[in-house]
Amino acid sequence: MEKCSHFVESLVARLAGGSANFTVTDTFTAHCQKHGQYTAKRYQSGRVSPCPTCLKEKKDEEFQEYAEEIKRHNSMQAAKVVREKLAQSVDIPPRFIGKTVANWQPENDAEKAIKKAIVNYGFAIQSGKAGALILHGNKGTGKTHLACALLSMRKAQMGGSVQYATVADLFRKVRESKRFSSTPESELIEEYAKFDLLALDEIGNQRGDDDEKRILFDVLNKRYEKALPTVLVSNLTREKLEEFLGEVLWDRLQENSFIVSFSGKSRRVARNIADGFSD
Ligand SMILES: Nc1ncnc2c1ncn2[C@@H]1O[C@H](COP(=O)(O)OP(=O)(O)O)[C@@H](O)[C@H]1O
Ligand SMILES: [Mg+2]
Ligand SMILES: [Zn+2]
Repeated sequence: MEKCSHFVESLVARLAGGSANFTVTDTFTAHCQKHGQYTAKRYQSGRVSPCPTCLKEKKDEEFQEYAEEIKRHNSMQAAKVVREKLAQSVDIPPRFIGKTVANWQPENDAEKAIKKAIVNYGFAIQSGKAGALILHGNKGTGKTHLACALLSMRKAQMGGSVQYATVADLFRKVRESKRFSSTPESELIEEYAKFDLLALDEIGNQRGDDDEKRILFDVLNKRYEKALPTVLVSNLTREKLEEFLGEVLWDRLQENSFIVSFSGKSRRVARNIADGFSD
């Protein structure tokens, strides 16, 4: 045992740059202002050993800080994992995982008003009184970001079924169901009409053929009849969107709805340069 500790000491001494520094030349009674008397060692280098109680306190403090750092890190990791799990279960595009209402940052008063409207729509969902949320306007302004954030929020706060889909996704399903006669139209409409919250993105990007368009309208209409909330996202202007959806549906969508216009400039370019990738 003694041999072993001697070995360790001499190893430490060698690593520290010479055994001379660790040779104790004398011991004496020293005084710590906080802890009183202790036996101090004087080394050949002239260095005097500090109060062992102070040393222990300092180490405990450092350990405490370290432990807290780990705890902080772990809870952040846990929150991240929960967020990602949630986003995966919500089935949103991977690029929008982790996008929240909180991390959508307004840069001016108009955007502050947008954020307020989104938060209010979130409250309306919670109280079961939300109709449609129409997010329309310039590209790259965070419309899909906010739609996905609302889906994750609905899922986190209330559970249930939420779904993100582009109109292209819906149209593809219509075409597939026709080609393979797999799902009857009515079932397809019912599938999209039953989600507790649906976000339908890129409205108006594709005009669609008559069947595709009819089904899009039936889905939106069914959801209106069931008083289920729908987030409609479009790059069209308000006039063009109204024209695309038609007067009857547009009027129905006004009930308990929020219409939010995005007129800012695109964040996509600046952000992607900052992130080191491009669309
Ligand atoms: N106000 C904002 N705060 C934070 N990120 C934003 C904001 N606006 C846009 N972004 C980010 O810019 C990118 C493009 O937004 P996106 O939602 O795809 O725009 P849109 O659907 O309106 O075309 C996304 O990465 C999004 O998170
Ligand atoms: Mg988008
Ligand atoms: Zn001390």
